[in-house]
Amino acid sequence: MKAIVCEQLGPPSSLKYKEVEDLTPKEDEVVIAVKACAINFPDTLIIQGKYQLRPELPFSPGSDIAGVILKTGAEVKDFKEGDEVFGVVPYGGMAEQVCCKTKNIFPKPAGMPYKIAASFLYAYGTSLHALKDRAVLKEGETIAIMGAAGGVGLAAVDIAKKLNARVIACASTTDKLQLCQQYGADEIINYTTEDLKARIKELTNGRGANVIYDPVGSSYTEPALRAMAWKGRYLVVGFAAGEIPKIPLNLPLLKGCAITGVFWGRFTKEEPDKNLKNSLQILDWYKEGKIKPFIDKTFPLSEAAYALELMMNRKVKGKVVIEI
Ligand SMILES: NC(=O)c1ccc[n+]([C@@H]2O[C@H](COP(=O)([O-])OP(=O)(O)OC[C@H]3O[C@@H](n4cnc5c(N)ncnc54)[C@H](OP(=O)(O)O)[C@@H]3O)[C@@H](O)[C@H]2O)c1
Repeated sequence: MKAIVCEQLGPPSSLKYKEVEDLTPKEDEVVIAVKACAINFPDTLIIQGKYQLRPELPFSPGSDIAGVILKTGAEVKDFKEGDEVFGVVPYGGMAEQVCCKTKNIFPKPAGMPYKIAASFLYAYGTSLHALKDRAVLKEGETIAIMGAAGGVGLAAVDIAKKLNARVIACASTTDKLQLCQQYGADEIINYTTEDLKARIKELTNGRGANVIYDPVGSSYTEPALRAMAWKGRYLVVGFAAGEIPKIPLNLPLLKGCAITGVFWGRFTKEEPDKNLKNSLQILDWYKEGKIKPFIDKTFPLSEAAYALELMMNRKVKGKVVIEI
């Protein structure tokens, strides 16, 4: 089979597109013929050795997959060859085949395109966990979302609107902000040209936002935290801009607010039943036509390195998908 292979840690340009051995499942595993693999920011980190998960070399990146079951291990009872599935694997998705345990996968709803199925769980799973389980976002509350046109950011906009919150979308270009408006954002802020703290305060009559969703970090974090309402919840989701901010602890004291960590990957392992409920909720919303991932661009497997570079250079909106 063909695969994108990380043989040495480094930027996307160091990845190889090459022929590798076909996969054989262990007794409790399946091999999936991958049809689509959506890119997530952690894929850009794992190949550089900058992510918390550090697979042994060589490995293929890629977690968010959809495809057809090709082979099943002897103990697998709940899936069979030919079943259409989607799910999240630790890595290995940017290849014609990926091997995983069945707890990682769901039956793909009939009629759901592979590229949509591959774009759901990571982004919407993270954002539903953040908004519902960590922030307990309530109807009518205001949430300000950093990086709002990115993968997890746009999913947060989409879900916050389903929860009847008021959304302030914050992003770096007019084009990205227009997409957020199409997804229902009530207000927009270009945080590269406007004063983030002053604008959030202005848009909330001086009270500040009840919840802030931050997958970006860097110099946006402190002004956003300074624009937090009394008893607000600040969601630490990621650091796409690279720098991990250091926060003066007088700020949460003065605002009576919580700074709350969000780690969806660990949540799926620590609380699998709750995660299953969330995943089924996301699927139901999709089937009811209430949410839909935005797919900006698709690429063939041979161009996966280029797709990763676009993401690292802030040149994509919503999801980018490798189609196989
Ligand atoms: N905690 C969790 O469980 C969890 C789960 C999934 C992802 N994450 C993290 O969430 C973050 C976003 O992931 P994603 O897949 O949504 O990525 P993404 O689609 O690339 O979105 C990230 C957004 O960050 C903004 N950004 C600002 N400065 C940037 C820079 N220097 N380089 C790249 N982007 C920059 C960009 O928006 P603007 O151009 O508009 O600023 C971009 O749209 C990552 O740090 C990822 O590791 C965390």
